[in-house]
This record gives sequence, C-alpha cells and structure tokens, in this order.
Amino acid sequence: TRPRILVARAVFPETIARLEQHFEVEHNQADAAWSRQELLARLKDKAGALTTGTERIDAELLAACSELKICANMAVGFNNFDVPAMTARGVLATNTPDVLTETTADFGFALLMATARRIAESEHYLRAGRWTKWSYDMFAGAEVHGSTLGILGMGRIGQGIARRGAHGFGMNVIYHNRSRLTPELEAACKARYVTKDELLAKADHLVLVLPYSAESHHAIGAAELARMKPTATLVNIARGGIVDDAALAQALKEKRIAAAGLDVFEGEPKVHPDLLTVPNVVLTPHIASATVPTRRAMADLAAENLIGYLVGGQPRTPLNPEVLKKKP
Ligand code: GLV
Ligand code: GLV
Repeated sequence: TRPRILVARAVFPETIARLEQHFEVEHNQADAAWSRQELLARLKDKAGALTTGTERIDAELLAACSELKICANMAVGFNNFDVPAMTARGVLATNTPDVLTETTADFGFALLMATARRIAESEHYLRAGRWTKWSYDMFAGAEVHGSTLGILGMGRIGQGIARRGAHGFGMNVIYHNRSRLTPELEAACKARYVTKDELLAKADHLVLVLPYSAESHHAIGAAELARMKPTATLVNIARGGIVDDAALAQALKEKRIAAAGLDVFEGEPKVHPDLLTVPNVVLTPHIASATVPTRRAMADLAAENLIGYLVGGQPRTPLNPEVLKKKP
C-alpha cells in the first residue's frame, strides 16, 4: 500500500496532484489552520507531512504520531520544528532553502525602500484625499543610495540584500553574524564584519535576516533600539519574536528611530495594536517569499523531499541528515 501523508494547509492543486501519484493524500481544503488537537488526530496514521511553518512539530506531537517519518516544511525557516526531538525519534526534517533566496532579498530591499522613502504613509495620505499642495518637506525621508546598510544575520538572504545594496545602490555594507563570512564571500557582497554594537550604532538602515531561536529572541529590544541612530530605519523580514514589538512601537511613537518595515510579527497573524496606530511603520503580512514562481518552487521542493525520502530514500534538503544513517 502507498504511504499516507498529510498536507496541513492548502497548496497548489498541482502539488496535491503530484503527491497523489505516490501517496494517499489527506489535505486541508478549507485552509483554516487545524487546531492542535485536530492536527494530532489527522497526523496519527501518516508517514509524512507537508507543513508550512505554522504547525508546531514537537516531542508531544511526535509521541502521538508513531508512524511519522518526515515533516517537509514549505519555508526556509523551521523554528516550528523541534529538530533535536525529531532526530531523537528518527523523523526527518526538511525545509526549502535556496529557491527563495533572491525573491526574499528583493522583498527585503523593497521594504527597506518603502520604509526609508515613506511610500506606504504617503500613499495613505493621497488616498485619504489630503494632498492639496506641494510642500518642501512633505514626506521627506531618509537617503538610501550611499548610506550605511547594516545586516544582522548573514545567510544567503542577508548576502543577497548586501549585494543589492553594495552593487545597486552604492551603499556601505556592514554586517554582524554568529560566524564571519569567508573573505571571498565578504568581497562578493562588499560587506564588512562588525560587532553587534557597532552595527546598531552605525547603520542608517538595519535589516534583520537571522533565524529565530531562543538565542535570537528579542535580539532587538529597548536597549538595542536605544543604540540606533534617531534617523535610522529597521526592517524585519526574519521572524516575529526577534524584535520586541512593544518596545519597537514605543520607539517609533517617540521617534527614537525614524521608521520600521515589518513583514513578520510576534504572535502573527495578530499584530501588536500599537504598531497599527503609529504612522512611521510599513506593515506586510509575511509575504517576503510570495511570488508565483517562488511559491511554486517551494511547494515543488517540499513535495520532492516527501517523494524523495518516502519513495526513494533520498530527500533533497534534509535538516537532520543523521536520521538517514539510522534508517533500517
Ligand atoms: C518564510 O518565512 C520562510 O521561512 O520561508
Ligand atoms: C537562511 O537560511 C537564509 O537563507 O538566509
């Protein structure tokens, strides 16, 4: 009999069709996120799951789902996975790196520019019918070209943003990361390694692209915001929880930094109410990887991980490849 899998959220019909060539597929047609209890119940007899970054795969769930062999996340981030618990249970974890790097870097840059040049705020003003005259300082924002671009988290996406800033906009790029890039990679994105303190103090535009973990929780809080320039902008395309949203809303309200652009939020899809009322923040609903070709590529890669592993034994992008060695 064919392996049974669960697709936890709605995806492209083509993805479901492709999976149905290999598996008995149960999928979420309604696309209201299943409750935890419902997810557990549906996953009990499944060998694999296609998850989307919102389903928490932890020890409790794994204990209840003894048939489970693989969870394929349709996201590069995988903070919804307890990877050590998965490895201990011999459950493979996969994500979708690389296929979304350039698209997500494009969006990071778009959000930086929208934030610095006050595009959302000025659009609301125009739509509200408040544009009646030219004025010398109307929506005067921050300079992008030639300014200092700070990047916290220098993975593939961070490097993509650095290249755009350095080569496209003549920006002076500085970064901080747990580990330094090789000299070759630093040269390719013209980026200079600095301490986190220097990054906060010198960046005109600070972009966050680091993975979420206990270590990066509130990496930007009141103390860090206080170290930034009052003219600086902050962009978060990484994960909610990396920024203390309450502290950020307060800093924006008091103009202790100039503006922020946020694609991710603590407790999303809920958004801190104070962020909804301050004008100097651009808010988008976690769409940095959302282009049609990239979302297709992500769905394809997640499907190929499921098929590769459950049918062929070889996944494409394993996060815990040690599970492969343990396989009977
Ligand atoms: C989206 O946030 C992702 O991790 O791919
Ligand atoms: C993270 O995995 C990245 O690609 O930046």
